[in-house]
Amino acid sequence: MKKRIGIIGSGKVAEVLAAGFLNNGHEVTMGTSNPGKLADWKGKNPGAKIGSFEEAARFGQVLVLAVKGSAAELLVTSIASSLANKTVIDATNPIGDKPPINGVLQFFTSLNDSLMERLQKASPEAHFVKAFNSVGSAFMVNPSFPEGKPTMFICGNNDEAKKEVSAIINSFGWDATDFGKVESARAIEPLCMLWCIPGMLRNEWSHAFKLLKRG
Ligand SMILES: NC(=O)c1ccc[n+]([C@@H]2O[C@H](COP(=O)([O-])OP(=O)(O)OC[C@H]3O[C@@H](n4cnc5c(N)ncnc54)[C@H](OP(=O)(O)O)[C@@H]3O)[C@@H](O)[C@H]2O)c1
Repeated sequence: MKKRIGIIGSGKVAEVLAAGFLNNGHEVTMGTSNPGKLADWKGKNPGAKIGSFEEAARFGQVLVLAVKGSAAELLVTSIASSLANKTVIDATNPIGDKPPINGVLQFFTSLNDSLMERLQKASPEAHFVKAFNSVGSAFMVNPSFPEGKPTMFICGNNDEAKKEVSAIINSFGWDATDFGKVESARAIEPLCMLWCIPGMLRNEWSHAFKLLKRG
């Protein structure tokens, strides 16, 4: 079903997911404080609208949060009322400013905390669903791996929102797998660290995770 999608962000993740939604027949508004930086992208994707963060949030029936992790909490606080009762796909990671150590990114959260829990507290009425955070942007839409579809690990408190996001993820060529409530972001966010290690150490960036199951 065709939906209005608000993409909060203008980086690579925002661009790739916005194009994916447009190609699947949805309407898209991108949100940024700097519309000029999307001029090239908009030239290739004329169907998209560009607005402020707030305008994208108000436009979308479904939202994607794709901003720098360290800016996410403040931004979500400032637009909280526009996120209320909406599904918000949270692609962010709590990557800190310090450099990686032996290829391991440094987070500003600890193991008993996560960025998505902070976002959920900042906008309690929003239905956050963690997704797309632990794969590179090149593989977010229609990934092609000889071993088959990779697994998208998702979590969040609202079951309907997770069903809605699972359908989107599956339409993007993934297997969405529900890993529980918001606290599970403590485990899913660090998958980003794991995903980046081969890239940081050996410049290998062409992989994705798959969950193997018996029965
Ligand atoms: N790159 C990847 O392959 C990848 C993969 C998985 C997950 N992620 C996660 O997805 C998120 C987006 O990543 P990205 O690489 O696409 O872009 P990014 O460079 O991490 O972030 C760019 C976005 O963050 C916003 N931003 C930066 N500082 C801000 C501030 N102080 N206040 C408000 N907004 C601010 C920018 O706003 P303007 O639009 O106003 O410039 C822009 O929309 C990150 O949390 C990242 O960890 C990235």
